[in-house]
Amino acid sequence: MCNGIVAPLVEDDDERRHAVERHSGAERGTQSHDKAVPQALAQNFRQGWADSARTLPPLPGAAYAAKRRAALSERFPGERIVIPSGGLKLRSNDFDFAFRPHSAFVHLTAEQGTSAVPDSVLVFEPHGNGHHVTLFTRDRSPRDAGPRAAEFYSDRRHGEFWIGRRRTLAETADAFGVEAATREGLERALGGAAVPTRVVRGEDALVDAAVAPAPEAERELLTFLSELRLVKDEFEIEQLRVAIDSTVAGFHDVVAELRHATGLGRGERWIEGTFNRRARLDGHGLGFDTIAASGAHSTTLHWIHNDGPVRDGDILLLDAGVEADSFYTGDVSRVLPVSGRFSDAQRRVYELVYAAQSAGIAALRPGARYGDFHDAAVRVIAEGLEAWGLLRDAEAALAPDSTLYRRYTLCGSGHMLGLDCHDCAAARTETYMEGRLEAGHVLTVEPGLYFQPDDLTIPEELRGIGMRIEDDFLITADGPVILSGGLPRAADEVETWMASLM
Ligand code: GLY
Ligand code: MN
Repeated sequence: MCNGIVAPLVEDDDERRHAVERHSGAERGTQSHDKAVPQALAQNFRQGWADSARTLPPLPGAAYAAKRRAALSERFPGERIVIPSGGLKLRSNDFDFAFRPHSAFVHLTAEQGTSAVPDSVLVFEPHGNGHHVTLFTRDRSPRDAGPRAAEFYSDRRHGEFWIGRRRTLAETADAFGVEAATREGLERALGGAAVPTRVVRGEDALVDAAVAPAPEAERELLTFLSELRLVKDEFEIEQLRVAIDSTVAGFHDVVAELRHATGLGRGERWIEGTFNRRARLDGHGLGFDTIAASGAHSTTLHWIHNDGPVRDGDILLLDAGVEADSFYTGDVSRVLPVSGRFSDAQRRVYELVYAAQSAGIAALRPGARYGDFHDAAVRVIAEGLEAWGLLRDAEAALAPDSTLYRRYTLCGSGHMLGLDCHDCAAARTETYMEGRLEAGHVLTVEPGLYFQPDDLTIPEELRGIGMRIEDDFLITADGPVILSGGLPRAADEVETWMASLM
């Protein structure tokens, strides 16, 4: 990777100050490898650039985002609402993690993958009966004059020579359908007359400093923003289909690479990389770190070390999701017998988890309690465990004051899915966990059984087997629609599908 260029030697004091402040190496004390910019070069950088302004169409989801903003405006009349995108997070020294905007910001703007600009902030200013919305953001770096004239070549975090072209303010306004302003005006916009203000806190230091904490009001805002995402609109459903179709394609890719993975020391990494390649090819990236768990690693729910071998005769539990450019994500799990055929013991466990998932799916319908599918799934599991002698009494194990079956299932049997893998997490219990399914909900059904390798309560041949089957569903007025149906579910079908790809 190339080294940086130190802030230019320029005459204008203001320009010099900004150049130095904005130069990431200088900010972080890492300029040792940077080279100074002589004044002649700084002057030279200022001229000779073509006008590359564009006219942008509205973002694909802009009209839907406008409706969501209207709902937020209606919920908090007379209050200022501040929704930051969040900023870059330092990885180490002078490199950041890839930027991914806050999901509430995405939901209210329909922002897309690579065009997302760190440190953008959406401000709803009370106006008449509603709000006037402004998107404060970083516009393009001016190249000819002014305090930011050196930014485009000297600022490795925000300079366009370093990270690529940004939208102009006019392009931002066109794309989002809201007024756009430079971030320089944000502090003033948040000061001035005392207006009751709610912010999504912890995403933007300037916002946090400008607005006094109001924990209860902020919690209420987060709850509203989460609940606003419970029922998906047409755009969101389309984007979830895009994400899940890519996720399915990633599973096909993995099966096609499975043989190759068995010949490698850390075959799980090959599997992870194979899926991740699909995620980057088709979408923005991953919705969450890929879980590529082979052998006994399958009993660790979120095995993301992925540093183990993939061996013939073992299973591979792959739990993965492609995040589309729109930031909606898939979340699918399959258990793959590495040889292409389940052993008897593996098949026994698979059939029980499959039956549990089938029972969960059968409980999905609009109007059902959200908890119904979980209850249906774990009932099948508890009864199966009783039949195997692992539970003495399934009914007693299912009782709320016992839940002994959870020694082998550990986690819940599903969750809402959307911009976040575990979507709508700040929704109230009564609207989510104890609420009812509605048309437009998208959720996963993913019961599992995890027989830890050192669990002496388990017959030896089952120890070290962890299985989860996970699919994504849209609830409609007519019942559930499987969105991940491009993958087989039943054991025989999994084997047939694998044979066609290996
Ligand atoms: N697929 C990861 C999870 O649901 O926790
Ligand atoms: Mn999941």
